[in-house]
Amino acid sequence: MENSKISSGASSIQISGIRKFYNKVAKVEGAISLTLGQPDFPVPGKVKEAMIRAIDDDKTVYTSNAGIEELREEISKYLRKFNINYEKDEICITAGGTEGIMDIFSTLLNKDDKVLVPDPAFPAYDSCTRLLGGEVITYGLYGSEFSIDFNELEDKIKNEKPKFMVLSYPSNPTGAVLSKEDNERLHQLIQDNDIIAVTDEMYSALCYEEEYYSISQYKDIKEKVIIVSGFSKTFSMTGLRIGYVCASSTFMDSILKVHQYTTTCAPSISQYGALEGLRNCDADVQYMKNEFKKRRDYVYKRLKDMGFEVSLPKGAFYIFPSVDGFGMTSEEFCEKLLNEAKVAIVPGSAFGEKGENFARISYAYSEVELEECMNRMEKWILKNR
Ligand SMILES: Cc1ncc(COP(=O)(O)O)c(C=O)c1O
Repeated sequence: MENSKISSGASSIQISGIRKFYNKVAKVEGAISLTLGQPDFPVPGKVKEAMIRAIDDDKTVYTSNAGIEELREEISKYLRKFNINYEKDEICITAGGTEGIMDIFSTLLNKDDKVLVPDPAFPAYDSCTRLLGGEVITYGLYGSEFSIDFNELEDKIKNEKPKFMVLSYPSNPTGAVLSKEDNERLHQLIQDNDIIAVTDEMYSALCYEEEYYSISQYKDIKEKVIIVSGFSKTFSMTGLRIGYVCASSTFMDSILKVHQYTTTCAPSISQYGALEGLRNCDADVQYMKNEFKKRRDYVYKRLKDMGFEVSLPKGAFYIFPSVDGFGMTSEEFCEKLLNEAKVAIVPGSAFGEKGENFARISYAYSEVELEECMNRMEKWILKNR
């Protein structure tokens, strides 16, 4: 029902398609969900202990708005390993990456400003833009590598004049990473045009390639780049809500004001957990990454053997097979798969128009669940192709 009291921004958005599908699972008896980006590993033991210590030491009070200094220093050190240089005063700890995205968008957007968002992509960019009264324009990701068409991108930057563009690598939902060549081309494009790049690097710790490339590695465009990232996936601590934003002081001073009035500070106890994670949990992160890689290879092979057209993801923990050729929309495909095979995956259309004809499978689930789901899918495919 229309409610005139609700803002046009809030009326213009919907609950994310990922959650919508996740919520349907509970209604189908015996269904297994591969819908969420939630690692099945517990948070590392040392992180738990650090949080218990923080509680015992009564560190349950407000921290500084930007977050505890030790954590910001440790993030600064951590990012240098990726060739990304931000000092502690250029970092703000947020309540998850989600708050970081909203803080950045609120800081940059005026009503009717345009935001250039990848398609397919994590749904928050689209929704945050609409919520703030901005206009979403998209650039497509194409082919087996889900790559940028630079002609299209440049055209849109020059003609539509967006305030900023979003980059999102490693990608949710495709698992694509940014190549060296595309990073160089993006650098040139940002240098040559009046555009800011907001780069979401939530999955930077889950890159299965040797080298990691990001637009934030170029010092000469630092004034035009803002990073959002966090530890939800890195340390399997999605519920503890720790993310961060990195920006030069030109932006950071304003981002901090927005952050103050939305959140005051990220949860204090969780900040101490993330600090311990960065200082002492490299081995845990490496272990989880190796496990994800094994699961990726397993699911990829099973999907290939079933005849799906699918690319080997190079990062994150999602795989994005084409579901074209079944004579159904991706939504219909996933509904039928859920009701008949009792496997829940997310329709590609939840990630944008160009996600139609695909479906997202999260392989952040146990090997047992993955095997069972692949077996169920295989049987179902034989009947439905
Ligand atoms: C690309 C991307 N960015 C940001 C987020 C938000 O992360 P958080 O749980 O830390 O808010 C997610 C979560 O799935 C994501 O996939």
